[in-house]
Amino acid sequence: MLFEQRTSKTQPHVSYYYSVYRVGPGINFRMKPTFESKDGAVKLYLANCLHVMATMGRVSATVTDPPYGLGKRMNGGTWGACQKFAEMREWDEVAPQAIVEEIVKMSESCVIWGGNYFTLPPSRGWQIWDKQNAVKTMADCEMAWTSEDKNTKRYSGPVGGHGTKHPTEKPIGLMLWSVSQLGQKETIFDPFMGSGTTGVAPVRLGRKFIGVEINPDYYEIAEERIKRELDQFRLPLNIEQPLIQADFMAIKP
Ligand SMILES: C[S@@+](CC[C@H](N)C(=O)[O-])C[C@H]1O[C@@H](n2cnc3c(N)ncnc32)[C@H](O)[C@@H]1O
Repeated sequence: MLFEQRTSKTQPHVSYYYSVYRVGPGINFRMKPTFESKDGAVKLYLANCLHVMATMGRVSATVTDPPYGLGKRMNGGTWGACQKFAEMREWDEVAPQAIVEEIVKMSESCVIWGGNYFTLPPSRGWQIWDKQNAVKTMADCEMAWTSEDKNTKRYSGPVGGHGTKHPTEKPIGLMLWSVSQLGQKETIFDPFMGSGTTGVAPVRLGRKFIGVEINPDYYEIAEERIKRELDQFRLPLNIEQPLIQADFMAIKP
């Protein structure tokens, strides 16, 4: 039944993930971040997000873009011929419903991109990405389910632009807008961070970030991008006003 299933908190098979170690009876394990910023505001894990979540308490906000379960459909035409999308057929085969339910339970506020691929409670606060340069064979819009009792909002912006090797990389402008729609949230959690786009947004907005990615190649891209962002600049924490869409359009990726 929806939201009744509990994820096992017993120690999973962890040998692959070098960042895991036992701390004693009662507490199964604690995970050391694969990367942590000097001030501790950014923690990144090369791991299965379920293993990290089992060690966490509640988070103020999750903004994430999980696999949508479309992998098998990515086998025709231009997409099917492309190596980048061949990889995607593997990790995007199943939409992780049970993990998404856990994420919603542990988050005070939550944004699930591709929320229309999951069974989630009714919500009026959807976030819509209107893809300005959508090609005819792809969707004109993407939808994010949110836990917020707010009006549905739309962001208009183009697809692509950052050129990482991740096949479903989201634009930074979109994730800046998406995170900012939640208002003042101290920490943003992304359990499916891919190339790290969501993580760039809180760093740029002066928030804390916890990110997890299971694929070592994508993790490497994410860590490099987020470190570069940390090296550039950080706003002080507690900015008062969420940015408006015009601000994001002015920010160069
Ligand atoms: C839709 S992509 C995220 C793309 C991201 N928004 C970006 O801009 O690059 C989903 C990611 O979740 C990762 N993933 C799938 N299952 C996972 C799991 N159990 N734990 C952590 N990451 C996982 C995949 O490897 C993939 O990179």
